[in-house]
Amino acid sequence: MAQPTVDLTIRPLRIDSDAERALVLDLIARSTSVGHPAWFTFELLAHRQRESAEALLERLAVSAAQRETPKREVVLIAETAAGELLGFAWVSTSIDHFTQRPVGHLEDLATVLGHEGKGVGSALMAATEAWARDQGLSALTLHVWPANTRARALYARHGFGEETIRMKKNL
Ligand SMILES: CC(C)(COP(=O)(O)OP(=O)(O)OC[C@H]1O[C@@H](n2cnc3c(N)ncnc32)[C@H](O)[C@@H]1OP(=O)(O)O)[C@@H](O)C(=O)NCCC(=O)NCCS
Repeated sequence: MAQPTVDLTIRPLRIDSDAERALVLDLIARSTSVGHPAWFTFELLAHRQRESAEALLERLAVSAAQRETPKREVVLIAETAAGELLGFAWVSTSIDHFTQRPVGHLEDLATVLGHEGKGVGSALMAATEAWARDQGLSALTLHVWPANTRARALYARHGFGEETIRMKKNL
């Protein structure tokens, strides 16, 4: 597994940081853009992702204003010792349909362009798993486009196996 080739730290997002909010809004579009099915346009996916990112940031701002630590979701930020932002992971929680046990769900993961292949994604995956274990969750789930081979390889290296394959016929 890739070891970080940069000196990086993983920590929760600082919701009062303009740069970190901008990073999430920027990267969240990137996370669905790689290998998406032909029936979606990038513009549609980016628009929908931006809506969900804005709702996420709003929830986190409300929690911060109420001085609460959100327990059901977290945004993890990877940064260098010098404060350069490298990537993010967004993890939520839900009840697994089959086991009826609480699980973590990796909603999004992305590394800043130009910083791929340095172990940032791997470090974010490890931090995601640590967060989920700390929450007492029984498993981690995620969705990935079939053609996103790089992300799928990363997930496989981190121990993820395929569970369902969602299929669609447009009418
Ligand atoms: C998928 C993604 C998060 C991986 O992040 P990363 O920081 O590059 O990951 P790492 O460096 O920890 O490891 C990735 C592996 O792919 C390799 N890799 C990463 N970028 C590469 C590149 N540009 N060219 C060739 N290989 C690359 C690394 O060498 C490493 O392999 P190894 O573990 O065998 O050493 C990143 O490519 C990304 O942001 N992709 C776009 C968004 C995306 O697809 N997100 C997932 C949505 S489901």
